[in-house]
Amino acid sequence: MTYLNDKPSNSGNQMIAITREPSRSLGNCELTHLDRKTIDVELAALQHLRYEQYLEQFGCSVVRLPAEHDLPDAVFVEDAAVVFSEAAVITRPGAESRRAETISVAEELKKWRPLLFIEAPGTLDGGDVLTLGKNVYVGISGRSDENGIEQFRRHLKPFGYTVTGVPVKGCLHLKTALAPVFDDLMLINKQWVDPGVFEGVTCVPVHNSEPYGANLLRFGNAALCSQNFPRTIDWLTGHGLDVYTIDYSEMAKAEAGLTCCSVIFGV
Ligand code: GLY
Repeated sequence: MTYLNDKPSNSGNQMIAITREPSRSLGNCELTHLDRKTIDVELAALQHLRYEQYLEQFGCSVVRLPAEHDLPDAVFVEDAAVVFSEAAVITRPGAESRRAETISVAEELKKWRPLLFIEAPGTLDGGDVLTLGKNVYVGISGRSDENGIEQFRRHLKPFGYTVTGVPVKGCLHLKTALAPVFDDLMLINKQWVDPGVFEGVTCVPVHNSEPYGANLLRFGNAALCSQNFPRTIDWLTGHGLDVYTIDYSEMAKAEAGLTCCSVIFGV
């Protein structure tokens, strides 16, 4: 199986997906661009189980970390670490309430990769990191700052990666705004991120009525997409992908999407 989303893997055969059981306190999550709505925590847990089943269906071995009930956003494990073939970078999340989430993610990842760390005062969220081969793009957002990006650049330079900062305006993370669909084509919300920075990549705008449509997971010829984005689903299907849909309403209320809930890598 080839995994074509931005999350890096190595050339091994097994894919690991780290996830975490949602917190009972999910309703107290951080919100930046959305108004708070009541989150049905039991429904969120069921939707997350379905998400994990899809990850297994797509070939991942799911490693589910225990819930961190005092950390409302802890289910969004993507923000705590970025895994490359050579090493895993443990982040320093931009929201102070989220900093402790990295501890248990690092404990798990140290079984699989050497660890590198973003240190204070820098901040960086994994949701801001898009890896396309050796080109790594990092959102300059409300969560990831220049200092964090510079540390990230220094960590990755010995492995031959180029790190480029990308301004993000109007949404939480870089990957709220875009998703690679093929190696040279991505869906993007141009209101939030300027596509001009992605040289050699064709950027197709998401439909106006589906600003969050690009938040999808791509596995080989399959894509997992929120059921709330019918136009995006039609577009993906029209481009030959097998599209699987999921109801992720409760995570969407928490300002999160499908990439946020896993850290996927090859071993
Ligand atoms: N609720 C997701 C975040 O703000 O990090």
